[in-house]
Amino acid sequence: MIEKINQTADYIRSRVSSIPETAIILGTGLGALVDHIEDKTFIPYTEIPNFPVSTVEGHSGNLIFGRLGQVPVLAMQGRFHYYEGYDMKQVTFPVRVFKALGIKTLFVSNAAGGMNKEFRVGDIMVITDHINLFPENPLRGRNYSELGPRFPAMTRAYSPRLCKAAFEYADANGMRLMSGVYVGTPGPTFETPAEYEYFRIIGGDAVGMSTVPEVIVANHAGMEVFGVSVITDLGGKDVTEVPTHEEVQIAAQNAQPRMMQLIKALVALR
Ligand code: HPA
Repeated sequence: MIEKINQTADYIRSRVSSIPETAIILGTGLGALVDHIEDKTFIPYTEIPNFPVSTVEGHSGNLIFGRLGQVPVLAMQGRFHYYEGYDMKQVTFPVRVFKALGIKTLFVSNAAGGMNKEFRVGDIMVITDHINLFPENPLRGRNYSELGPRFPAMTRAYSPRLCKAAFEYADANGMRLMSGVYVGTPGPTFETPAEYEYFRIIGGDAVGMSTVPEVIVANHAGMEVFGVSVITDLGGKDVTEVPTHEEVQIAAQNAQPRMMQLIKALVALR
């Protein structure tokens, strides 16, 4: 595993002149955020040794090096989902490579269904914590102490410093910004009304099919993490609308400008 990580990191280094300290994983419907990145260099996943290839509709697969405002960033346009059939090591492999490249701060974004009754479609939720309901932990198996500790704490998995900064930014700019707990599920089914209700009762505010594996590995590797969800649909026993992939994409696209504004502001802080 270590050899593969280093091989991939070496390849990426050979393709670009400098490596940023900040990476951004762009979730469903948020891939167009790369339009805000300047001086871009694209590396398609298909060209990167050991990288899985993204399969799902609406996720194109590229690493993008460039600048967001003044800050050099590395963006992942399209991620690897557990529901596509990848195992947890494959899903989180890019985060291992990011660490090997010297990335210190990881921004993650996703589309999620809202259970919190205050939420509306199109809201942006700062992820303050998560509940891992994937059937496996990406750290299961042999631990390589070069990569991180056997039993990493998840007490501050989402940087309190960046969460606070996000709310300061939102307040100062009159932006509606929610916060909450992200429940990570394997998918690919959306939830039954009873499941949305259950996730709310156990402490969740939004539910989605990604992010938790990458955030676990980023914490294991000692990175600072900031996560945001776009609420693309609502679920619960009183909700009658049926969520669709198209609706999720459209709601995520509508939130893109606000999402980018927020991420841009936070990236500038690190
Ligand atoms: N459930 C799970 N994943 C999702 C949802 C949802 O309602 N919306 C977007 N991703």
